[in-house]
Amino acid sequence: MKKAILLSLEVDRQADGRKSLGNASILASLDSHNIPVKNIIIAVNSDDFNVNRITEEVIIYIKRHESSGDDCFLCLGLYVWNEESSQTLIRQVKQRTNATIILGGPQVSYASKGKLEAAYPGVDIFIRGYGEKALVAAIEGQHENVAGIHLAGLPDKGLQADHSLEDLPSPYITGLLPIVSSIHWETQRGCPYACEFCQHKSADNRHKVKTFSYEILEEEARLFAQANVKRISILDPIFHHSEGHALRVLQILKDAGVKAEISLQCRLEMLTNDFLDALNGLKVDLEFGLQTAIRSESLLIRRGNNMKTAAQKLKQLKQRQIPFEISLIYGLPSQTLESFKRSIDWCHQHGVTRIKAWPLMLLRGTALYERKEEFGFVESDEAIPLVIQSNTCSIEDNKKMAELANQLNLGQLEPNHLLAPEYGVEQDVIFYRA
Ligand SMILES: C[S@@+](CC[C@H](N)C(=O)[O-])C[C@H]1O[C@@H](n2cnc3c(N)ncnc32)[C@H](O)[C@@H]1O
Ligand code: SF4
Repeated sequence: MKKAILLSLEVDRQADGRKSLGNASILASLDSHNIPVKNIIIAVNSDDFNVNRITEEVIIYIKRHESSGDDCFLCLGLYVWNEESSQTLIRQVKQRTNATIILGGPQVSYASKGKLEAAYPGVDIFIRGYGEKALVAAIEGQHENVAGIHLAGLPDKGLQADHSLEDLPSPYITGLLPIVSSIHWETQRGCPYACEFCQHKSADNRHKVKTFSYEILEEEARLFAQANVKRISILDPIFHHSEGHALRVLQILKDAGVKAEISLQCRLEMLTNDFLDALNGLKVDLEFGLQTAIRSESLLIRRGNNMKTAAQKLKQLKQRQIPFEISLIYGLPSQTLESFKRSIDWCHQHGVTRIKAWPLMLLRGTALYERKEEFGFVESDEAIPLVIQSNTCSIEDNKKMAELANQLNLGQLEPNHLLAPEYGVEQDVIFYRA
């Protein structure tokens, strides 16, 4: 009998009890093909995480099943934060068991063609792209039917597994993911943009956006309403990129009687009156990634923020009293401590009361990852490496940015206190023209 061990080494960022939707979606797919699964989810940043202990547990489990004649498949999702632990675990499992090791996740999806075997010795099968159907095919031995499956040692085509989302089983409807008070939800995947720091663009650069089945979304929304869910974080990279889709999902939520607070990732410049009107009757919290208010910086990361339109949209949001937050990134190419302060000032001057700021991460497959030398990026030596220095920002200034970010994230930075005396109307004018 075939037996899958689905091991998710995650980062517990929220500490709110939410289980990973990605893991559950793969679990639901394996389950719908009657592949028995041992699902193990562990946070690598928890105090009691110990890679040797989990490795021993996995090996004991595999050996027990191998001795009863089972074929075991160890399936791992590789992320920037679990590279080291995964490598240790893979090495041991390979040496001491006969399990087939299957590796997927962004670190594999975004790895260059022909580079996987050397980077991850011991792995038998690699999956680039969506894992749901490809993993089933890999375990069932139907590799040739699915793009994105690469068998170690054979020519690497560098393709991505890319399938419709419409017929994927729902982890919520199947009951594999409990509906708790705060949940994650997906209604579509992919992003049509290509911001240079972001992994959300499709790995093969085709920027496809795919939607889940509306029938399934309707049934899930009814379940969320019945369970009296308090918060739904919709993970779609840009929820309203297709207005037709956004309006339909908002209507589904209203029809189902969902009372939860719904957080949505949106883009300021793309807000329309129809979309804003459709939010009426729902308790929403909009999250906008601005990243920088300095146009030249936004152009360098292929973000191209239109600050005039962004300012108009902020005005509309305030007039309509729609709650929202804005996120910035520090450590960006050409950014300085001073320009980061100007981005914060811009938000404050436009009445933004909730600002979040995050350190730049160089994620595999993104353009900034490839331009590390050009921008003089230096990264920290942590599980999730962060940019701590660049051509235009010293380590000391980066620390000051981190302090400001910390204050912002805690809601403790008073508006306008950063304004340098020389940063007045004149600079403002220059800034708008930029
Ligand atoms: C998943 S993204 C989606 C944002 C939204 N689609 C947008 O473009 O406004 C959410 C936020 O994560 C942060 N983020 C994404 N990639 C990042 C990176 N490489 N380094 C630092 N922060 C990043 C950004 O602040 C971004 O706004
Ligand atoms: S930051 Fe947002 S808009 Fe840009 S590529 Fe990522 S998801 Fe798309």
